[in-house]
Amino acid sequence: MKALILGGTTEATALARLLDGHPRIDATVSLAGRTKQPVLPPLPTRIGGFGGVDGLAAHLVENGIGAVVDATHPFADQISANAAAACARLGVPLLVLTRKPWEPAAGDRWIGVPDMAAAAEALRPLGESVFLTIGRQEVAAFEAVPDKRYLIRAVDPPEPPPNLPDHRLILDRGPFTLEGECALLEEHRVEVVVSKNSGGSATEAKLEAARRRGIPVVMVERPPGNGVAEVHGAAAALAWLEAR
Ligand SMILES: NC(=O)c1ccc[n+]([C@@H]2O[C@H](COP(=O)([O-])OP(=O)(O)OC[C@H]3O[C@@H](n4cnc5c(N)ncnc54)[C@H](OP(=O)(O)O)[C@@H]3O)[C@@H](O)[C@H]2O)c1
Repeated sequence: MKALILGGTTEATALARLLDGHPRIDATVSLAGRTKQPVLPPLPTRIGGFGGVDGLAAHLVENGIGAVVDATHPFADQISANAAAACARLGVPLLVLTRKPWEPAAGDRWIGVPDMAAAAEALRPLGESVFLTIGRQEVAAFEAVPDKRYLIRAVDPPEPPPNLPDHRLILDRGPFTLEGECALLEEHRVEVVVSKNSGGSATEAKLEAARRRGIPVVMVERPPGNGVAEVHGAAAALAWLEAR
């Protein structure tokens, strides 16, 4: 059976490793092409958008795809909606492979918000020194609250550069250690962290570091799903594919 994995995450790479050399499943991984130097999975990989729902549906038909695993990031809501629509249209089975969301622990001071505009608004009464760990695509939302000192961490630089009078950029890719995150918050005297509720272990240390420092985390909650069946581990996604 031919399978398509919509990737761009550590979960997709983990599933690709399990499928490498699989005797019955011939899988390809698809990446959006956002990251300049992506971590390539050990499977045939195509890079670039499909051209919306119609383009994805055409790709599934032309390549005889029998099942799709949407292992994209929980905040990549457009491609997930497209996959749900294209698979429903063609009757191709679809599974979402995603990380469990993070849950607040004792001592956490999380402020839950629905989107990036609300995250920027939530900063107004909080501290001056803000650590933005939200990726590079939505930094412009914080231009609505320009009078803060922003430390921005992303894999690639935001484009166009953020129009924030006081900002510093750190280009880095996880996993990050607790020790490193605590040192970073101390070095930059960070008073508030902004994060998406991405889940997963690679970037979780910042939350523990914020808890230890006693500072708030403005937590952007996940967009609603599309009613597609969901699993949290690559092994469960492999079992689902093998059962097709
Ligand atoms: N959003 C995040 O916070 C985040 C964080 C880490 C990694 N990522 C990864 O980065 C990629 C882009 O994320 P996004 O938030 O920009 O996506 P998005 O807003 O949901 O998707 C925008 C468009 O990008 C194309 N696209 C997205 N993922 C694709 C994939 N895996 N293969 C082929 N085309 C894809 C599609 O173009 P067409 O309509 O032309 O098909 C889609 O309509 C995803 O693969 C995601 O897993 C995202």
